[in-house]
Amino acid sequence: MANLLAVKPLSMLLKEAENEGGVGLKRVLGPLNLITLGIGAIIGAGIFVLTGQAAAKHAGPAVVLSFVVAGITCAFAGLCYAEFASLIPIAGSAYTYGYATLGEFVAWIIGWDLVLEYAFGAATVASGWSGYLVGLLQDFHIHIPPQLTTTPGNVLYFYHDRWQPLAALPAGLSASSLPHVAGIFNLVAFLAILAITAVLVIGIEESANLNSAIVIVKLLVVGIFLFLGINFLLHHPEVAKANWHPFIPKSEGPGAFGIGGITAGAASIFFAYIGFDAVSTAAQEAKNPQRDMPIGILGSLVICTILYILVSGVLTGLVNYHALNVADPVAVGIDATGVRWGSILVKIGAVFGLGTVMLVMLLGQSRVFFSMSKDGLLWKWASVIHPKFRTPWISNIVVGAIVAFMPAVLPIDKLSELVNMGTLLAFGIVCAGVWILRRRNPHLHRPFKTPLVPLVPILGILSALYLIWTLPALTKIVVTGWLLVGLVIYFTYSVKHSKVQQLPAAAQEPQIEPGA
Ligand code: ALA
Repeated sequence: MANLLAVKPLSMLLKEAENEGGVGLKRVLGPLNLITLGIGAIIGAGIFVLTGQAAAKHAGPAVVLSFVVAGITCAFAGLCYAEFASLIPIAGSAYTYGYATLGEFVAWIIGWDLVLEYAFGAATVASGWSGYLVGLLQDFHIHIPPQLTTTPGNVLYFYHDRWQPLAALPAGLSASSLPHVAGIFNLVAFLAILAITAVLVIGIEESANLNSAIVIVKLLVVGIFLFLGINFLLHHPEVAKANWHPFIPKSEGPGAFGIGGITAGAASIFFAYIGFDAVSTAAQEAKNPQRDMPIGILGSLVICTILYILVSGVLTGLVNYHALNVADPVAVGIDATGVRWGSILVKIGAVFGLGTVMLVMLLGQSRVFFSMSKDGLLWKWASVIHPKFRTPWISNIVVGAIVAFMPAVLPIDKLSELVNMGTLLAFGIVCAGVWILRRRNPHLHRPFKTPLVPLVPILGILSALYLIWTLPALTKIVVTGWLLVGLVIYFTYSVKHSKVQQLPAAAQEPQIEPGA
C-alpha cells in the first residue's frame, strides 16, 4: 500500500540541488535581479489583453477594484511563497515545497495542477501575443488571412483597412454591411508556441541580462502609456468623467457588473499577477536566497500591483469600457490619446514582452515535468536529456505540440480562466502548507516568516476559494476533470515508480519536532 503522505527528505532535495549546481548554476543574482525576474514573468497578457475584457464584460471602470482584490489575494499567497522559498532555497516550485512538507499525494496534485498554470498559461499568452502581432502588422497594411488569426467562430469585420472584432467598431455602425469572416484556427498563436518550443529544445542560455532588457522594454511601454494617458486625461477631464461614470455599472446578472462584477473581474484578471512564484525557481542562482527570495517575490508583486491599478484606471478613463473587448486594448487606449506612434510602440513592446512570458512559462512547465519524472512520478521520457542540447527535449516537444493547439481553438478568456483556477488551487495549497509546517515544525529556522500565522494563510486559502467560486461552472468542471485524470495517472503509474516510496519507511516520515 502506497504511503500517500511520504515526504521527500530535505537531505535528498539538497543533494540533488548540489548535483545540479555542479553543472554551473552560479550564485550571481542579487535582490534587484530577482525583482526584475519577477516583473519579467508577471507583466504580460493579463495587463495587455485581459484588463480590457474584464472591464468590458465584468467590472466596467471598477476593474481597478478588481485589481485591488486580486492583488490582496496574491499578497497572502506571496507571503507564504516567500516563507517556503527562504526555508527551502533550492530551484523548486510549489511542487518541491509540497513534496518536502505535505507528502507525495499533495505534491502530485500541485505538480499536475501546475501544468494548468504553466502550459495553459503559455497558451493564454500566445493568444494575447497573436492579437498584438496581427494588430501591428495591420498598422503596416500587412493582412494575414483573418480566418487564421482568431479562434473558430469569432467574427472579424473589415473596416478602415483592418480586420477587427465587433467591439472595436464605432457604435451605431451597421456591422452586417461590412465584409466579415468567422475565424477557423489561430495559426499565429499556434506557430508562436511551436517557435518557443524550438528555442527551448535547442536550449537558451538563460541570461539575466536578456531578461532585464526585455523587462526594461515592458516597463517603458507601461510608463509611456501612463504618461501619455494621464497627460491626455489631465487636459480632457470631461473624457475621464464620462468614461468613469458610473464607476460601478449597474448589475446585469451574476458576474456582470455591480459588486459581483468586481469579484468576477478579479477572478478573471488574477492571471495578470501570475508569475511572482517564478522567482522561486531561481533560488539556486541567488547570492543570498534566504534574504533575497522574499524581496524578489514580494517586491515584484508590489510594483506590479501599483502599475496595474494605474494602468486599468487610465485605460478605462481613456476609452469607454464597452469598447475594450478587443485583442489589443492598451493600444486602443493609446490611440484615444491621438498619439499615433504610441500605439505602434505599445504593440512592439507587447510582442517582445509577451514572447518572454511564454518562454518562462514553457520553461517552468518543463522543469516541473522534469522534476516529477526524476522523482519517478511521471514517465521516464519526460526527463530524457538531449545529448547535445542538454535540454529535456522530448518533454518540451510533447508539451509544445499539445499546448500549441489550445490558443488556436480556445478563446483567451476561457484559457485564462482555467489557468486562474489551477493557480488559485496551487496558492491555496501553499498557504495551507505554511500553516501545517508551522504546527509540525515550529522551531525550524525560517529566515522569512509569514506574518500573523495562521491568519494570513487562512485568508489566503479563503480568498483563493472565493475567487474560484466566482469562476464559471464550466471552468470548474474542466479543472475537476483534469485533476481526475491526474489521479488516474498517480494511482496507476506514479505510486509504483515513485523513488520516495522505495525509501525505508522511516525516511518517508515527516520530521516532527518533539512537543510540536
Ligand atoms: N502574469 C502573466 C501575464 O499576464 C502570466 O501574462
